[in-house]
Amino acid sequence: MSQEKLLETLRQGLRDELSAAVNYTRLSAKIKNTALKKAFLNYAIDEMKHAQNLTALLEAMGASGDEILLAENIDDDLYIHLVNYIACEEAAIFYYDILEKLFVNEEIKLTLKQIQMEEERHLTNISEIFNKLKSGEYING
Ligand SMILES: [Fe+2]
Ligand SMILES: [Fe+2]
Repeated sequence: MSQEKLLETLRQGLRDELSAAVNYTRLSAKIKNTALKKAFLNYAIDEMKHAQNLTALLEAMGASGDEILLAENIDDDLYIHLVNYIACEEAAIFYYDILEKLFVNEEIKLTLKQIQMEEERHLTNISEIFNKLKSGEYING
C-alpha cells in the first residue's frame, strides 16, 4: 500500500472515531436512564482516545491536518441509532484488523490490537443494550 493510501485509510478511521465519539455523546445527553447515560459516555471517551491514537499516527507519518467532515447521526429513533452503532462497531473491528496488518512496528501493532479489543467490547455491550431495550428491561430509554 502506498504512503498516500495509508494516510487516507488513517483519515477515514479518524473520521469514524470522531463521529462515533460525537454520536455517543449526543445519545448519552439525550437518554434518560442513568446507567445507559454513563455507558454511552464511556464509549464516547473510548472513541475519543482511539481518535487521539490515529491522530498521533498521522502526525508521526508527517500528514497534514485536514478538516474532517463528521458522519453525525441525527435520527430520533433510539433503535435505529443502536442498529447503526452495532454496524459501526463491527466495521471498526474489521478496520483495525486490516490496519494492524499494514504496520510492522510492534508498538503500533499492539496499540491497534488493543483498540480492536475495545471495539469488540463495544460491540458486545451495545448488542446487549439493544437486546435489553427490546425485551423492555430499560424503561424511559
Ligand atoms: Fe473506536
Ligand atoms: Fe467502538
